[in-house]
Amino acid sequence: MNLPDMKQAKSRNKESVEFIYTNPVKTDKFSGKKYFIKTYGCQMNVHDSEEISGLLENLGFNEVNTELDADIIILNTCAIRENAHDKVFGFLGRCKHLKKEKKDVKIILCGCMAQERSVVDEILEKHKYIDLVFGTHNIHELPNYLMNLGEGLNVEVKSNEGNVFEVGESFKRDSKYTAWVNIMYGCDKFCTYCIVPFTRGKERSRKSRDILREVECLKEKGYKEITLLGQNVNAYGNDLVDDLNFAELLESVAKTGIERIRFVTSHPWNFTDEMIDIIAKYENIMPYIHLPLQSGSNRILKLMGRRYTKEEYLNLYNKIKTRVKNAAITTDIIVGFPNETEEDFLDTLNVVEECKYDGAFTFIYSKREGTPASKMDDSIPLSIKEERLHRLNEIINSHSNLNNQKYLNTIQKVLLVGKSEKDENKLYGYTETMKLVNVTCDKSLIGTIANVKITEAKSFSLDGVVEN
Ligand code: 5AD
Ligand code: SF4
Repeated sequence: MNLPDMKQAKSRNKESVEFIYTNPVKTDKFSGKKYFIKTYGCQMNVHDSEEISGLLENLGFNEVNTELDADIIILNTCAIRENAHDKVFGFLGRCKHLKKEKKDVKIILCGCMAQERSVVDEILEKHKYIDLVFGTHNIHELPNYLMNLGEGLNVEVKSNEGNVFEVGESFKRDSKYTAWVNIMYGCDKFCTYCIVPFTRGKERSRKSRDILREVECLKEKGYKEITLLGQNVNAYGNDLVDDLNFAELLESVAKTGIERIRFVTSHPWNFTDEMIDIIAKYENIMPYIHLPLQSGSNRILKLMGRRYTKEEYLNLYNKIKTRVKNAAITTDIIVGFPNETEEDFLDTLNVVEECKYDGAFTFIYSKREGTPASKMDDSIPLSIKEERLHRLNEIINSHSNLNNQKYLNTIQKVLLVGKSEKDENKLYGYTETMKLVNVTCDKSLIGTIANVKITEAKSFSLDGVVEN
């Protein structure tokens, strides 16, 4: 095990890293064996699970959708908040029982929690029934670990400062129409509440050439939409020499002609005018931007280390709304950050009232061991934090509903991606602005972009019919 000391993570080496392509092992050694994978957390983890599944299927494994039928159970974990951590240990409890009945089943934990020293220590002390723990920096080694898995608990976690190992197109992608494309790994922002820079390591951008090749390849395979992925996509290229910045990358991706391009997540701090120009210029760059606010109080933003003021955020927000036609903007907000007063919270509500977001992910602050905020005085009672979250959500939901009402009777281009679970006569898909629409139409339209007339607008989704 080679985990970095959290205190030293900020004094990162600035040397450029290499991206090393590996050839995934292919064998039928595990043919007939079954795997179950459970993914917690963000899109980055979802995409990592696509890589893990691809590697396992190369070894002969088949996927099953319950842990009860599996020979190996993989938990791809998230560390961002305490409740994600609790859910993982809850599920592990069930796996432990299962293992009493089915001795041969292997339990594997990976993802962000595996990069936390305190979690690894807890596993070494109390969860020895786990067979393998591996981190976010050595997913490509999974086939080797499985082929040589010894008895007892094996911990294979690497520091997050080194080279990046990629597995080419060995992903088992969840969809045939929409795909995730990593453009960079890690984060150097060190917002004071956030564990990501510690678990995911420093910012490392992939070469634009490799990203464009992947997009071309997806387009050839018939993918309609790609989402460029990074913890902080507008920092793309800062660590590269003689390569593109994010706006330039976005433009090059747009020129491939792939039908829809999205990107997550943007940091308001270095969201440039050049980026806004490119988003406005190309029709295949979707007018949907996730722009985390976190707080509307300048005092709290400073304590969070967010690098912008409420005024700068609003200025950017208004610039995007003016320049990008019909843009939808969503956000992330944390309530109950250490020392947040009622006044600070009202500042957040004011910004929310002004922005009238299309949607928001709202969270109660969760103390993460090792982050600077964990040392700040956190004396606000939970009942107050919960009450603030409730008040915030009421306003967010009313705005989301108001925004959705504007779609009523309009025609929207909807990429139809799947069958509706509630109604077998419907497909579901997304507008250019990322609104979920349930559409009454022929099932043969799956995978196409249809003109849909919106017939009903609800708080969290729209209903529609295909227009001929
Ligand atoms: N507590 C609560 N929310 C957090 N987030 C990140 N770290 C924490 C934390 N310690 C939220 C932020 C971020 C989103 C992905 O998760 O809002 O944008
Ligand atoms: Fe965390 Fe801030 Fe980096 Fe986002 S930008 S991953 S909140 S440190």
